[in-house]
Amino acid sequence: MPQDKKLYIKTYGCQMNVYDSERMAEAMGGQGYVTTDSPDDADMILLNTCHIREKAAEKVYSELGRYKHLKAEKPDLKIGVAGCVAQAEGQEIMRRQPMVDLVVGPQSYHRLPQLEARARAGEKALDTDFPEDDKFETLKTRPKAKRGPTAFLTVQEGCDKFCAFCVVPYTRGAEVSRPADRIMTEARDLVERGVRELTLLGQNVNAYHGHEGGLAGLIRELATIEDLKRIRFTTSHPNDMDDDLIAAHGDCDKLMPYLHLPVQAGSDRILKRMNRQHTAEQYIRLIERLRAARPDLHLSGDFIVGFPEETEEDFQATLDLIEEVRYGSAFSFKYSTRPGTPAAERDQLPEDVKDDRLKRLQALLTRQQRALQDEMVGRTVKVLFEKAGRFAGQMVGKSEYLHAVHVESDTIVPGSLHSVSIEHSGANSLSGRLVA
Ligand code: 5AD
Ligand code: SF4
Repeated sequence: MPQDKKLYIKTYGCQMNVYDSERMAEAMGGQGYVTTDSPDDADMILLNTCHIREKAAEKVYSELGRYKHLKAEKPDLKIGVAGCVAQAEGQEIMRRQPMVDLVVGPQSYHRLPQLEARARAGEKALDTDFPEDDKFETLKTRPKAKRGPTAFLTVQEGCDKFCAFCVVPYTRGAEVSRPADRIMTEARDLVERGVRELTLLGQNVNAYHGHEGGLAGLIRELATIEDLKRIRFTTSHPNDMDDDLIAAHGDCDKLMPYLHLPVQAGSDRILKRMNRQHTAEQYIRLIERLRAARPDLHLSGDFIVGFPEETEEDFQATLDLIEEVRYGSAFSFKYSTRPGTPAAERDQLPEDVKDDRLKRLQALLTRQQRALQDEMVGRTVKVLFEKAGRFAGQMVGKSEYLHAVHVESDTIVPGSLHSVSIEHSGANSLSGRLVA
């Protein structure tokens, strides 16, 4: 087998793509590839793309344009497009950009080595199937290399919710859960290699049903792995938050008090048009139950402004909901039309209205986020340290609530947990000193 060919992967979009890129790199490791940080010395370039918002495909084409000279200098260079743009526009990419040698959709990554071999043989290779076989099982031999203290682990993929704005049900397919025993095996392996915190990933992670106890059951079983210290999960839909998962926030010490629970909008009229299948009131009641289980829970959300037919009054309802919930962090977007989704057919709001609402929404969220972060000053948090900071003698890690925390220390090692007394709240992080 040829050795030490170089693979450059550029990853766009969500954490699941980060996880998928790792797994693809591992799969290609079996073909003699090692990863490189630069496209210039690569034998294969793979773009792991995202289709969630506008201009995603355009970004891919412009990135591909930047590799044209590399392909001219190095005819053996193979270029591949993976991820959700590949799934949505595979044929079109091949047609529009002849320098692309292979296209692989998110459910076919285990076939990447074969696709690469076909590309090497001079074929154009495309695979955007939704095969029955378990891609993670086929990809299972993760090399035993040492890992950093935190890792992602995909437990669920796909979405059956069909929110009117979203391409995910089309690009990632129907909801599928990985069997719990395979997840446990992968988790134990990661922990043996140094991982102390796992973030369980799924487009609809709390709809996970690969364990008889659902996601809460899986979390409780993962919590029995002694050297695994922290568990997180993302992203959840409010309607799949069952009683046991709510309870786990109160009684499972390893489950961190931070929850990403997108609501998208605060107006019932818009929530209905978005096909979210819940009201603002139901969401608020759910947050109350979660906070009853875990009073210090930090919440994070996603918001869309400028959805078709959103009035100023509807928008105000979103601001009111945000005021009521108090988010520790949030992501907000202008609505963008996605081909093939129901909302793309509706009358669109003017761009300047969307811009204005996004600005006002982000101002509120930033203020709120900052206030909650400032409230940490004077408190003691547990920090899982991950790496050296930017300055000599500094270490950086994450609090339970996912704040970045800096501490001056020569003794802390990555992967260790320490209590830190918070002394200062900066623009995007906290700092403090170790509690003896
Ligand atoms: N326009 C704007 N934002 C979107 N999102 C998903 N689809 C769209 C769209 N068409 C946002 C949602 C989702 C997050 C991942 O991306 O807020 O929760
Ligand atoms: Fe998209 Fe999330 Fe709605 Fe599924 S639940 S359609 S992934 S926004």
